[in-house]
Amino acid sequence: MIDSSNRLMVLNHPLVAHKMAHLRDASTKPTEFRQLVRELAAIETYEALRDARVEEVTVRTPLADASCARIPADSITVVPILRAGLGMLEGALDMVPSALVGHVGMERDEETHEAHPYYAKLPSRIVDGTALLVDPMLATGGSAIAALQYLRDAGVRDVRFLVLVAAPEGVRAVLDADPDVRIWTCALDDGLNENAYILPGLGDAGDRIFGTL
Ligand code: URA
Repeated sequence: MIDSSNRLMVLNHPLVAHKMAHLRDASTKPTEFRQLVRELAAIETYEALRDARVEEVTVRTPLADASCARIPADSITVVPILRAGLGMLEGALDMVPSALVGHVGMERDEETHEAHPYYAKLPSRIVDGTALLVDPMLATGGSAIAALQYLRDAGVRDVRFLVLVAAPEGVRAVLDADPDVRIWTCALDDGLNENAYILPGLGDAGDRIFGTL
């Protein structure tokens, strides 16, 4: 079993399936591809924040006081893994416009093949709240594990990893490497090919988002 700890959430919804069909289609052009990534990221953010911390507030309506709940200011930080994760940023911010934003850029060492951050900038308040780490493709899990480790070393305790397409190999690697992270994905695919591309996947997400084909 890929996830005995219930830390993998695969979104099961006709709208997600519909948008994923367009996203996977090789004939979908970058403009539409970007829009779909944004919309799927928004839906996934909604799901991943189902148990977000809220504070009770009283709001005065035109008629009376109403007891309401609000997500505390600065309690959510979105962290795209560069470059493809940038495609999901706006969708997450569509759901939580007040979220803080951090960035982590990962590259692979030519000799060791280990991923490590070549650039990172996090808001200091990230440690007290929830970090949504976003990257469209979870393939081998190498950069995700390194990004997660970077967040853990920075003191972030609540990390939720949002991807659009996941390979079972990557899911297993990430869950094994980090005992607390949870993963949300729109699709769990068959596996990786010899070049570590996800099958059936959707190709290179970064290239399709930015049109660098
Ligand atoms: N990264 C991608 O963009 N696509 C894959 O299939 C695997 C990694």
